[in-house]
Amino acid sequence: MTDRYAVIGNPISHTKSPLIHAAFARQCGQDISYEALLAPLDGFRETVMAFRNAGGRGMNLTVPFKIEAMALSDKLTPRAQLAQAVNTLIFDETGITGDNTDGIGLVRDIQRLGFDFTSKRILILGAGGATRGVILPILEEKPANLTIANRTFAKAEALKSQFAAIATIIATTYESLSGQQFDIVINATSTGLHGEHLPLPEQLFAPGALAYDMAYGKEETPFQIDARKLGATQTADGLGMLVGQAAESFHLWRGVRPEIAPVFSALQSDVLTQAPPSA
Ligand code: ATR
Repeated sequence: MTDRYAVIGNPISHTKSPLIHAAFARQCGQDISYEALLAPLDGFRETVMAFRNAGGRGMNLTVPFKIEAMALSDKLTPRAQLAQAVNTLIFDETGITGDNTDGIGLVRDIQRLGFDFTSKRILILGAGGATRGVILPILEEKPANLTIANRTFAKAEALKSQFAAIATIIATTYESLSGQQFDIVINATSTGLHGEHLPLPEQLFAPGALAYDMAYGKEETPFQIDARKLGATQTADGLGMLVGQAAESFHLWRGVRPEIAPVFSALQSDVLTQAPPSA
């Protein structure tokens, strides 16, 4: 019998996850189905349980259910606990496990681009949920240092305190970035969604630096445009992170880790279809 998986959100119609997982299934020769489920805003738990009771093996969660999914999980992995959000559910005989693959998906995508975190100066812009979700996997790569800059300084400081037992994070403001240089700069603010720009100082990007926007869209993001003008050597949007987090979820469910580069290229050039593995 074909194992069933799904992504659940509200709205959900624009999700690319079914295309990505169908491509992984073809690549890895896995017989799975993966569908998109719309849950009513007040009917998340019911929709998940109905899918599980019908034989579902796992789910991805997207907006706005990543936080609510913590309460529904029987156990959380340490990285989901630290992220305070769940993007992957695993259903098995032990119950429901909540995990979070967003951070490791980001790390893998940046590595795909040819950048290494180890001993590098890393800057994350923003101190909301998107930032919290990626801190641990970045720290695990042993950067030289990790700085978090935020408009509201207190939120950057709160993240610093939360992770103090694991590593020393530097909390700062945009103004204080002046004169500092970084090798990888990650935009985790929501500014791109509203076409807003961040007050980035000149000289922020070290020679050879990557500017990575966790958001993505049809066009270059405002952050990518600004970063290029300020001399970033390479810029990228978050489409590859979407593929990266999906690959890690697929690995959790199926025990095989798909290659993200070919699926990213196919997605970027709009040639992915949902043809079954035999096609
Ligand atoms: P998410 O869960 O997606 O990270 P969030 O928790 O609402 O969303 O966080 C949004 C982040 O974008 C915050 O770091 C926010 O800064 P504040 O904490 O100061 O609000 C940041 N952000 C949003 N609009 C911004 C703007 N115009 N300039 C600078 N930072 C902005």
